[in-house]
Amino acid sequence: ATPYETVLVERKGRTALLTLNRPKALNALNLQVMKEVVGAAEALDRDPEIGCIVLTGSAKAFAAGADIKEMQPQDYVDMYLSDWFTAWDRLGRLRTPTVAAVSGYALGGGCELAMLCDILLAADTAVFGQPEIKLGVIPGIGGSQRLTRAVGKAKAMELCLTGRTMDAGEAERAGLVSRVVPADQLLAEALAVAETVAGMSKPVAMMAKEAVDRAFETTLAEGVRFERRLFHAVFATADQKEGMAAFVDKRPPTFTHR
Ligand code: CAA
Repeated sequence: ATPYETVLVERKGRTALLTLNRPKALNALNLQVMKEVVGAAEALDRDPEIGCIVLTGSAKAFAAGADIKEMQPQDYVDMYLSDWFTAWDRLGRLRTPTVAAVSGYALGGGCELAMLCDILLAADTAVFGQPEIKLGVIPGIGGSQRLTRAVGKAKAMELCLTGRTMDAGEAERAGLVSRVVPADQLLAEALAVAETVAGMSKPVAMMAKEAVDRAFETTLAEGVRFERRLFHAVFATADQKEGMAAFVDKRPPTFTHR
C-alpha cells in the first residue's frame, strides 16, 4: 500500500511510475503534493532495483499549476521563512533518469515540474504555459530559467509576459518536448522509453544524465572535460566490458548495472 495520498506509486520491473492523484484540483501542486512526490521520488532514487522513474498526471491535467488557493493568503515573510517551493529542486537533483509523461494541462508549476524531468514526452492533448503573470505573480519553480534554456528567450519571454499557452506541436517544434504521441498511447510509450533506459547500465545511465545536465551549468570546454573524465571512468564498469563484448560476440548485452 502506498503511504501517500496525492501520488500513486507503482513498480513495473526496473521502472517506477508516479501518478499525481489530486483529480478534483487538476493535480494542483500544494505542499502535500510537493512533500509526497519528492519523498516518493527520493526513495525510488535510492533503490538499486529502479533504473528509471516516470512521472505522469491524468488525461485532463498533468498539473494545472501550483495550488493558487493555498498561496492566496500567504505574505512575503510566510513564503520566505518556509522557503516555499524549494523542496521541488530536489526532484531535479535525482540521480536516476526521469521521464515526464504529459497529457492535458501542464501550466505554471505543472510545466515547471515536467521540465524538472530528464525526458519530456507529450500527448497530442498537452498544453504548456507559464500563466503566473495573469495571477499577478511570476514562475517560482524554475520556469523562467528552464523554459528559457529549453525554448530560447523569444518564446520564453512571450509565454511568461502574456501567459499564453503552447500546444504540443508548438512545444515540440520549440524543443521543450522530445516527442508528441497520441494521447491514448502516452503512458505505454513513456513506460517503454523508461524500460529502455532502465535496461541500460545504471551507473552509465547516471553518468550520461550527469554529463548532459552539466551542459546547462558550465562552459563548453569545461563540459567537454567533464564528459571526458566520465567517459574514461565508464571503462571501470563491468557493464562496459559486457556491452562491448556482446557487440563483438553479436549477442544482446546483459547488464549487471555495476
Ligand atoms: N490551484 C488550485 N486549484 C486549481 C488550480 C490551481 N492551479 N487549477 C485548477 N484548480 C481547481 C479549480 O479551482 C477547480 O476547483 P473547484 O471545482 O473547487 O472550483 C478544479 O480545479 C477544476 O478546475 P476548473 O473548473 O478551472 O477546470 P477548467 O477545465 O474549467 O479549466 C484550467 C482548466 C484552464 C487549467 C483552469 O483550471 C486554470 O486556469 N487553472 C489555473 C492555471 C494556472 O494559473 N496555473 C498557474 C498557477 S501559479 C503557479 O504555478 C506558480 C508557480 O510558478 C509555481
